[in-house]
This record gives sequence, C-alpha cells and structure tokens, in this order.
Amino acid sequence: MHLSVTHAAVRAAQQAALASSEWIGKGEQKNADAAAVKAMRATLSQAPLQGRVVIGEGERDQAPMLFIGEKIGHGGPEAPSVDIAVDPLEGTGLCANDAAGALTLIALAPAGTLLHAPDVYMDKVMVGPGGKGTVALDQSPEENVTCLAKRLGQPPSALTVAILERERHDDLIARVRGAGARVRLIADGDVAAAILACVSGSGIHMVLGSGGAPEGVLAACALKCLGGDMQARLLPKNDAQRQRCSRLTGLEDPTRTLRLEDLVRQEAVFAATGVNSGGLLPGVARQGDHDVMHTLLLSTADHQAQWLCCQHARNPAVSPTGAWLRSPFGAAPSSF
Ligand code: FBP
Repeated sequence: MHLSVTHAAVRAAQQAALASSEWIGKGEQKNADAAAVKAMRATLSQAPLQGRVVIGEGERDQAPMLFIGEKIGHGGPEAPSVDIAVDPLEGTGLCANDAAGALTLIALAPAGTLLHAPDVYMDKVMVGPGGKGTVALDQSPEENVTCLAKRLGQPPSALTVAILERERHDDLIARVRGAGARVRLIADGDVAAAILACVSGSGIHMVLGSGGAPEGVLAACALKCLGGDMQARLLPKNDAQRQRCSRLTGLEDPTRTLRLEDLVRQEAVFAATGVNSGGLLPGVARQGDHDVMHTLLLSTADHQAQWLCCQHARNPAVSPTGAWLRSPFGAAPSSF
C-alpha cells in the first residue's frame, strides 16, 4: 500500500500511546481510553487518506469519535481509500492498573476489504506460520492441540496455549490441559497473544477462546502480515446482535466459520505501539525531556516486520528530538 498509509498507521499508534501513557496506573480506564481515541483521531484527521472506520469505538450514537462508519482523513481525490480498524487502547484495564501489556492498535487496508465486525464476542483459534492450515474451529480443543503438535514435530506437552482468564473458558482450559498442553492464562489482550504466537521464542504456540470481534479483525491483519493463521466465528448473544452482525458484515449466515481471508481479504498494514511494557513491546519511557516509544509495524506488501524505536520531544521548541539524539545501538563510531 501507499507509503502515506504506513506512515499514518505508525503515527496514529504512537500518538495514542503517548496520550494514554499519561493515564498509566491512575485507575481511570475511561480517561485512558478517551485520551488514546482523541489522539488517534486527531492524527488520522491530518493524514493524507480517504479513510472509513470499519472497526472502531462502536456505533455513532455511543461513540463521539472513531465510530463505525466515520469518514476520516485529509485526502483529496488522489489519496488512497482505506478501511481503518482501530483499538486505540487495547487493554484499558492493563493501562489503568499499570499491569503489563497495554497497546495501541491500528490496521489499514484497501477500502471494502476488512470484515465489518460489530462489538460482539468472537470465537477464535490463532496460530503462527508453523501451524498454518492445522487448526480449525470445528475441531475440538484436543484435536487442535494434537494437530498443531504433530505439525511442529513436538509432543503436546511442549506447546503453550494462551487463553483469556475468564469463567467462560474454564472447560476449554481443562480440555487443553487434558490434551497435554500448557495453558498461559492472560488477563487481557488476545491480539498481543496472537502476535506472540508468531514470534520465535515467545513460548506461545496457539491462542484459543472467545474475545472481542473487533480485536479479532485486528489480530487477523497482524497474522496475515506474519504468515500466521486463524479461524473465527461471531457469537451474537441475541436476535438484535445477530441482526447487527448480518447488517454490518453482509453475511447471510453471520455465525458461519470465518477464515483469515474472510476477515482481511487483501493486503493490510498493521501497527502496534507499547503503552506499558509487556511481552510484545516495551512501554512509553520518559527520558529527561523526551519520551521513547516502540512500535511494531507489519505490512503484507513488503514481507517485513519493523521494530521501530521513536524518540519524541516533549517540548519541540527545545530541539527536534528534545535532547541529543540517543542511539539505541550504542555510541556513534569515533570517525563521526
Ligand atoms: P479492552 O481494551 O476493552 O480492555 O479489551 C481487552 C480484551 O482483553 C481483548 O484483548 C479481548 O478480546 C477482550 O477484552 C475480551 O473481552 P472480555 O474482557 O469481555 O472477556
């Protein structure tokens, strides 16, 4: 996709992380989220895009900003038309309670190519590239563990499955353990867990269970860039939700099994910035008069994962970087 799309994704994720980091540990989830939303929206409004929010803060009547359907971007007719999926603060509780791993998330894709998933639960099975094609939602948890272990050439006891720690998952957790795998219980953040399933040495091999559908689409964008795999199923809990699912997704049967290609049909760009440090990314760090942030930038186009380190001046009047630029690679060569 156009470079302006990539740049907008990185900047939106970083501005949201900076804004929400002011709320780390203050016990105020709503304020932390609102700060991230406001910053992300302000950044996207200036971006040279013709964007439409397809995964956002909810529908217009409940969400003043980044609501589903909102048109955003500063682009003229030549600017790329994109679907925008955001979770301006993934893990609002993790941020408010200064528990590890809050992230800001955004994905952009050509207009009309991301699933418009409403804010309902979604059943998910997600794996890294090594497990592509082995897992499925119509397989039992035991079968998913066994098939993945076989493909990876490991005994089930060598696998760790990340599952959100929720009462609704008690049976799932017992069955995965019964199949011989370990379970890593996560408090929040199944998008980060899905990405970690693609990161060598992370110790996570699969993510199972139900979480938010918006997070499912964002995870799908990341997995598509990383060569991972996923199946999902929307879980409307009543007729009204079922109708909303049909209306937004356009699916005749909105509860059918969805493959990665149904969630993200073509290319995508994905960016995540750490708010407070977790297993995937370090959080925003205050260093003197500047802040340091880390962003993971993924794109289906260039087959690259970029780990970006950004030094941001708190008072740009002082100097562009707010201080002497600090190299994350150590001192500059002496010939400089
Ligand atoms: P928030 O950012 O809204 O706190 O969501 C975090 C999260 O843990 C997601 O990663 C996950 O998909 C979803 O919540 C699970 O929802 P629930 O907490 O209702 O089980």
